[in-house]
Amino acid sequence: MLRSALVSGLTIQLLVLAVFALDVTQFPDDNQHFNRTLAGIMRPRVVGTNGHKEVENFIKRELNTLGFSTEVDQFSERVPILGNVTFTNIIGVLNPNARDFLALACHYDSKYFQDDPGFVAAIDSAVPCATMLNTAKTLSSYLLGDFKDRSDIGLMLIFFDGEEAIKDWSDTDSIYGSRHLAAKLSNTRTSGGLGRSIDRIEVLVLLDLIGAANPKFYSFYPNTYGLHHSLSEIELSLSADRKLEGKNLMFMRRPSTGFIDDDHRPFLQQNVPVLHLITTPFPPQWHTPNDNAANLHWPSIRNFNKIFRAFVYEYLKRHKEQVNLRAAFR
Ligand SMILES: *[C@@H]1O[C@H](CO)[C@@H](O)[C@H](O)[C@H]1NC(C)=O
Ligand SMILES: *[C@@H]1O[C@H](CO)[C@@H](O)[C@H](O)[C@H]1NC(C)=O
Ligand SMILES: [Zn+2]
Repeated sequence: MLRSALVSGLTIQLLVLAVFALDVTQFPDDNQHFNRTLAGIMRPRVVGTNGHKEVENFIKRELNTLGFSTEVDQFSERVPILGNVTFTNIIGVLNPNARDFLALACHYDSKYFQDDPGFVAAIDSAVPCATMLNTAKTLSSYLLGDFKDRSDIGLMLIFFDGEEAIKDWSDTDSIYGSRHLAAKLSNTRTSGGLGRSIDRIEVLVLLDLIGAANPKFYSFYPNTYGLHHSLSEIELSLSADRKLEGKNLMFMRRPSTGFIDDDHRPFLQQNVPVLHLITTPFPPQWHTPNDNAANLHWPSIRNFNKIFRAFVYEYLKRHKEQVNLRAAFR
């Protein structure tokens, strides 16, 4: 495909702009589900612990309940401090035989702190993972109705394991799960439905550090600027309709001033278009004991969930032809 990234980005952007009144009232909030889901995830879940295993099982159960087929990508590796541990990426898929995928991703492991075994990692990333499941839940009448069995587009929810460095962040001590999954999805010999499916991911939307007050999201990559702009359009439209709480706008129509290393790196290296939804500057609670339930900012969480739900719905509903945001010359 030689359509330029900009044109494709604009196509999606204009499609969303063309929506006169956003059709989201047909998909109301389900904050009870969000709270229940968050409670299932927001607990200590360091790889190798019982808490981690229970959260893994919780996510798999939720995905099954929401009608997704689930696969796991499991592997063992020797890591600093903890020794030989087993990581488990969880992938939920709707329309597994579709030509292309919209992939939403978060990491479900919590960071290991020797002096803080009770660390619950609320914004990093219990809230992002709960948001992904809540998006699927609130859109389920569409996802299990009109969307089902579409051959042009499927939906992938990826829960990465081992994002956090066990000791000190480095290329080898970080993003264990996403490095493994990107390698697996790019291997033609991978069996099952996901073989060579990395080329079928139209865009990887990575959610991280969400749930604190005053979030600001900037655009990190020119080829997904159109999608980022769409989020901003949706936010303005919902705000004008008085569907959001407060007046703070979180989607900034500006490029970010730098790269933030995260689970998307191995996918980016394989030319997968990335929309990185991470708040900058990082919230002050990041990697401190204060990253807990008491410091979550509920109006921001509810607003994000509304905007993100509309974005996912519009992307899937308006999808007709392949959205090619990959570099034009491969
Ligand atoms: C969800 O939890 C938050 C924080 O405890 C609370 O303010 C909110 O009312 C809860 N929502 C529902 C629907 O239970
Ligand atoms: C790590 O543990 C797994 C499962 O417990 C085992 O299969 C594997 O051989 C171990 N690897 C090493 C290097 O000890
Ligand atoms: Zn972290």
